[in-house]
Amino acid sequence: MNILVTGVAGFIGSNFLYYYLRQHPEDSIIGLDKLTYAGNLENFRRLSHNEKARFYFFKDDICDSSRINQIFEEFSIDAVINFAAETHVDRSINDPQIFVKTNVLGTGVLLNTAKEYWMKEGLWRPRTRYVQISTDEVYGSLGPKGHFTETTPLDPHSPYSASKAAADLIVKAYHDTFGMPVLITRCSNNYGPYQFPEKLIPLLIRNALNHLPLPVYGDGKQVRDWLHVGDHCQAIDCVLERGSPGQLYNIGGNNEWQNIDLVKLVVSLLRKETGDEGINEDLITFVRDRLGHDRRYAIDSTKIRKDIGWGPKMAFGEGIRNTIRWYIQNKEWLEHVISGDYLKFYEENYEGRL
Ligand code: NAD
Ligand code: DAU
Repeated sequence: MNILVTGVAGFIGSNFLYYYLRQHPEDSIIGLDKLTYAGNLENFRRLSHNEKARFYFFKDDICDSSRINQIFEEFSIDAVINFAAETHVDRSINDPQIFVKTNVLGTGVLLNTAKEYWMKEGLWRPRTRYVQISTDEVYGSLGPKGHFTETTPLDPHSPYSASKAAADLIVKAYHDTFGMPVLITRCSNNYGPYQFPEKLIPLLIRNALNHLPLPVYGDGKQVRDWLHVGDHCQAIDCVLERGSPGQLYNIGGNNEWQNIDLVKLVVSLLRKETGDEGINEDLITFVRDRLGHDRRYAIDSTKIRKDIGWGPKMAFGEGIRNTIRWYIQNKEWLEHVISGDYLKFYEENYEGRL
């Protein structure tokens, strides 16, 4: 199979690249990424010789239908996995327009170009699939009890989550209207290697290693359901192979943490790993809350467990320790990905908060 993976130079895209090439020695990945601040070619460094031979990379935009069409023609693409997106909620509050452009329009362009290419042959090929990587944030926010299921109504609050919900509806429409074999996944918060340090866990690690304040939004009692990125990649692979076209699947770790407890855990593990007494809870700084901040996310992943047989494998204690070690061992990577763009965003986002 030739699989087009968009957003391949980002956090989950690059983890998926390693995972998929190892699991499927007969297949190739055609990677496409616009290389925004979040996309990083350094993420491909650890590909083996054999893996490199089955990976083709193109620096392109999912909004560019003629480039996408050329790639479909050149590689006779069998399946698409769309990771490409603007992904940071705080950025979507500061500058929503690029979220609409990439996440809504870009998804529409990619989807339509795929459909036109596949429909030229008159029939969907048996293994043709379009997988849209969505998020649990499209469901909005939960109270203290309950979980998001696949039938929970959409109720996004941030420009980011609204753009992802809009994209999901366009994808669904291509199934309902054209019979296109699409699948949608909605996962909870991922953690693991190669995550851009604007997101909570790598931001905490980087700041703590440099004895900088650890910003906690509001009262820190918001809840997120954390899943190791390797488990997410495996779930996507299972959905690609065994999911039913037209279906959507929630993916979660059944692993809820209040932000403040997670921050304290990261501080204590980092101190143990480094022996650095300067890494302590005095660094924790409560700051002004995120606008429209969702209080609690929790995923019910019964459907993917029952229908596809997927379940998370990585215990959180082990996953978070390995992740902390990875960032300590890859301090250079962490510093390299921090471009001028990120430093400007950091100053603006946390200005007057720290
Ligand atoms: P990321 O920000 O690390 O990576 C996104 C990648 O998309 C980057 O490499 C970027 O350069 C690329 N990109 C952005 N705009 C593009 C465009 N117009 N054309 C081509 N490439 C473009 O994000 P991530 O955390 O890896 O998320 C990947 C996907 O998974 C997203 O769709 C996100 O909504 C979804 N998701 C993420 C999480 C999470 O916890 N990180 C959870 C659930 C779902
Ligand atoms: O739930 C899936 C989503 O998880 C994905 O769709 C998004 O792309 C991804 O960015 C992530 O969104 P969150 O907003 O939940 O992740 P983030 O790491 O930005 O924040 C996690 C929690 O920590 C959230 O409640 C906000 C809080 N936070 C975040 C930062 C960056 C802080 O308290 N301080 C911070 O400095």
